[in-house]
Amino acid sequence: MINIAVLGHGVVGSGVVEVIETNQEYIAKNVGDNVYVKRILDLRDFDVPYADKFTKDYADILNDPEISIVVEVMGGINPAYDFSKAALRHQKSVVTSNKELVAAKGAKLLRLAKENNVNYYFEASVGGGIPIIRPLHSCLAANQIDEIAGILNGTSNFILTKMISEQMPFEDALKMAQALGYAEKNPTADVDGHDACRKICILASLAYGKHIYPDSVPTQGIGEITLEDVDYAESNDCVIKLIGRVKKVDEQGHVLCMVSPALLHKQSQLAGISDVFNGILVRGNATGDVVFYGRGAGKLPTASAVVADVIDVAKAKGTTAALTWEDDGVNYVVDYRNTR
Ligand code: HSE
Repeated sequence: MINIAVLGHGVVGSGVVEVIETNQEYIAKNVGDNVYVKRILDLRDFDVPYADKFTKDYADILNDPEISIVVEVMGGINPAYDFSKAALRHQKSVVTSNKELVAAKGAKLLRLAKENNVNYYFEASVGGGIPIIRPLHSCLAANQIDEIAGILNGTSNFILTKMISEQMPFEDALKMAQALGYAEKNPTADVDGHDACRKICILASLAYGKHIYPDSVPTQGIGEITLEDVDYAESNDCVIKLIGRVKKVDEQGHVLCMVSPALLHKQSQLAGISDVFNGILVRGNATGDVVFYGRGAGKLPTASAVVADVIDVAKAKGTTAALTWEDDGVNYVVDYRNTR
């Protein structure tokens, strides 16, 4: 039996419990053992059939030797960072969808996992249900990555799609995205581009091996896009998309990186990606362009990526510690205003 604990019973956490429950037999066959949610940490009370699993005390999880994997789906830096460090130090692998934490502390947590002979996995941190972390790290390993560009925030893509296709006002579309469980607790991170920024930083760090700090990346969201802008794009055979982009500048790890709304011609690869879908284009020097596409947010797609990580960790039965990048305190983001 592989016992896991889930930290946070929000949209993603409840999705993780649901996916493990629904696909129990299939997962057991895949892993060669049963995967069981033993504990759920949340300060709120829930009226669910598995209410007996809940605890409000993290020590119940940390000090339980039967729990080998901690799923951190709380979001935010604190207390998620402290909880993740504590789990790794207790030789428990950590799986997360927490892009804010990975973008801020990924290098440190990966190092800590390695030191403790366990794993820190974060497939769900970028692109919701789209496989991108492992493909970028493993399947494209033979390539030098020249560029990554993507629609990385489901909420803002959903809002832009509603504005384009239904002339829906921004605020109404945002309310719909919140009701559907796409938006962050504080949707400012979605509409201001910070969520997309964290995700492009994670991809950049993975692709180029240096920690790229979100606060060094010029970031503009969709908050000022109006229905007039959308009409203007349409009349020029274009659409407006929020794009996160990183491009290699040199062999030392310097990159051009930014997040901003962009006018895309309707025939370009990312233009047709609508609703909550994300699309990520990776340009390798051997493969050329590879585009990853799928549901970028939402309960079950995100839970799918989290549970896939749980399965991989369960099957590894020890450290794989393959994902890594270095944080040497240097800002590798080149100011694009100084380049041509
Ligand atoms: N709020 C995020 C989004 C959730 O809309 O993309 C998935 O990371």
